[in-house]
Amino acid sequence: MAKRDTNNHATGQAETARLLWDEQGQPLAQAFEDFYFSRASGLEESRYVFVQHNDLPQRFEQLPADAAFTVAETGFGTGLTFLSCWHCWRQQAPATARLHFISVERHPLNPDDLTRALALWPQLDSLAQALIKQYPPACNGYHRLSFDQGRVQLTLLYGEASDAFSRLDAEVDAWFLDGFSPAKNPEMWSDALFAQLARLSRTGTSFSTFTAASDVRRGLEQVGFRIEKAKGFGLKREMIRGRYEVPVNNSSEPDQAPVPGPNTARSRPWFDRPQPCADNPQRVLVIGAGIAGASTAFALAERGCRVSLYERGAAPGCGASGNPQGVLYAKLPAQPTYHSRIHLSGYLHSLRLLHRLAQPGEDWAPCGVIQLALNDKEQTKQQALLQGANYPKTLVTGLNQAQASEQAGLPLAAGGLLFPEAGWVSPARLCARLLQHPNIDCHFNQPIEQIRFEQQSRSWQLFQNGQLLDQSQQLVVCTAHEANQLEPLTELPLKPIRGQTTSLPQIEASASLKSVVCANGYISPPKNGRYCFGASFDLHDQSPELRSQDHRLNLAHVEEISPLLGQQLGHQLEQALGRVGFRCAAPDYLPIVGAVPDRAAYLHNYRQLSRDAKAEIDTPPVHLPGLFVNLAHGSKGMITAPLAGSLLADLILNQPLGLERELLETLNPARFLIKKVIKGAI
Ligand SMILES: Cc1cc2nc3c(=O)[nH]c(=O)nc-3n(C[C@H](O)[C@H](O)[C@H](O)COP(=O)(O)OP(=O)(O)OC[C@H]3O[C@@H](n4cnc5c(N)ncnc54)[C@H](O)[C@@H]3O)c2cc1C
Ligand SMILES: C[S@@+](CC[C@H](N)C(=O)[O-])C[C@H]1O[C@@H](n2cnc3c(N)ncnc32)[C@H](O)[C@@H]1O
Repeated sequence: MAKRDTNNHATGQAETARLLWDEQGQPLAQAFEDFYFSRASGLEESRYVFVQHNDLPQRFEQLPADAAFTVAETGFGTGLTFLSCWHCWRQQAPATARLHFISVERHPLNPDDLTRALALWPQLDSLAQALIKQYPPACNGYHRLSFDQGRVQLTLLYGEASDAFSRLDAEVDAWFLDGFSPAKNPEMWSDALFAQLARLSRTGTSFSTFTAASDVRRGLEQVGFRIEKAKGFGLKREMIRGRYEVPVNNSSEPDQAPVPGPNTARSRPWFDRPQPCADNPQRVLVIGAGIAGASTAFALAERGCRVSLYERGAAPGCGASGNPQGVLYAKLPAQPTYHSRIHLSGYLHSLRLLHRLAQPGEDWAPCGVIQLALNDKEQTKQQALLQGANYPKTLVTGLNQAQASEQAGLPLAAGGLLFPEAGWVSPARLCARLLQHPNIDCHFNQPIEQIRFEQQSRSWQLFQNGQLLDQSQQLVVCTAHEANQLEPLTELPLKPIRGQTTSLPQIEASASLKSVVCANGYISPPKNGRYCFGASFDLHDQSPELRSQDHRLNLAHVEEISPLLGQQLGHQLEQALGRVGFRCAAPDYLPIVGAVPDRAAYLHNYRQLSRDAKAEIDTPPVHLPGLFVNLAHGSKGMITAPLAGSLLADLILNQPLGLERELLETLNPARFLIKKVIKGAI
């Protein structure tokens, strides 16, 4: 069963900001009775207070060509500060360096307000338009946006600042401490926030803020920041800036908890990220050209890494990722669970990727997905979702039967939920598109029979017919349910689940379906004159042969969705074509993404957990050096694999991670081993 989310993501939607606009068209937050930026000039203020007082022009200019730099901000607001930082980055940083900008926001602006606010800065228009295009809906959680061909990454954390930062895995180089004035927003400028700023800093991390309020100075000093005063912007007398030095504890109480510094132990160190490799990886090997392998290769390539990809088949998408059309949508429960939060993050991530890269009509179509409520139980669930979780209407909305039929262009058997921006994707075409990146070399018709770690060069070697094919210090295995045929991955609990899709010609002179419709099965609008629908689900059948009984089952599911369409397609069932594929699932039906644990070291270091599951252990994890996996995407690869690819690229390159820590833990390949240790099963 999916794990209930016990933290504050109780509803899906973040509360959006309510704005007032002054006579010059400048935005003011009603709840805080404060302006988003200086009314004299917000742009000049952000450049002066944040960009200059963190010395960013000089620091950007001095970066080595392949460097990465991380800026983090409290209060994304209109995005102006991000844009002025990005603008400076474009002017000063080497063209191949990478900027990560992380910003937290409790009350995101709605897209219309964001557009109106950013229209105040015509000099930043092209950057503003790029931001507006990818601006995420107001759903709680992390959202990763990508600009300048991946060289600028923006991670938006929607939630309360200290809470959202407490889930972040990153090391920050410069802080922009924005947020309304401490007098108007004391809740944000809390000790909990200062502790998080320290945890995410390293020695030398800089900060600047528009305020010089004494509580802010004291709070920052207490967690280890050295403070300097500077002249404030415009009419403001003072502001402060400084650097993180060392954690200090001014308390004379011996039993008081130490002030958290950057090295504070985490609660479950066995899920920590692997040791970064000493140098930036020059070249990464990937095995498998399905959506997992292609997404991983693309994310690495976009971050400037060279990738060599090996695939057994003759082309991308010859495994499960080869169906003509797959559905792209996230099934959401009324109460968010870890599963649903991962699916929602992944869904929004895939949508942004497709809008950025893919060709509508050929690679995908955002034609909307209707999830029908064919029985009372499903209807009750859907009502609870619509009323309780309060998701933005751009994400999901309710339709009665007539509305659903109108949306679909055909009479449907019931009403349901509409995911208006969702649709279908052609997985093999998407894989091919991702693999077109110039940093990726693809090697098809190359089955990898063995992988071996070579101690001296600390490299992973790929073998075929006993011959060494290639080697590199980093290897990502993306071979779905076949991954555990390779030593040292044999312990991964992967199961193949057979699935068959059916394809039939569209009936001439009849209305065609306009949206994807799902219930017990799914059917997409016709592509190239054919309908694709499915899919059977069989755990105990390993046969790659097409079965006519599965075609009949798929048709029966279409008949439930739309008796008319089912009847029309049924007349030509003997002409059915189809495809068999194998989903790869883990026992908990979540993907397996990350570094591969060193089994012996885990058993040695965490053995104590078998006696006391809550034992406090500080020992960092030991992984097989440079070995990663992106596997087990089950029935949801279109929404989970691209996000997983992006996470892996950030893990390998030691960059901030675009998913909350507790969600990363649920994907961690070590989870099965740790569970066994806790149970005393090994
Ligand atoms: C019938 C069916 C319908 C589905 N419908 C949907 C849907 O509507 N929406 C959705 O989101 N998901 C759907 N899925 C799930 C989705 O297709 C998968 O989650 C996704 O394709 C998995 O991608 P992958 O890259 O992990 O695996 P695969 O696509 O299977 O890729 C693995 C690749 O590794 C290669 N390989 C394996 N071993 C080796 C080796 N030793 N050397 C070299 N190469 C090797 C294989 O040839 C293959 O190309 C469906 C799956 C099936 C089967
Ligand atoms: C002064 S505005 C930021 C301006 C912004 N940097 C810009 O470029 O437009 C402060 C922002 O902090 C956000 N905020 C206030 N309290 C917060 C909190 N506790 N957690 C996260 N964000 C908060 C507000 O919603 C607001 O958007």
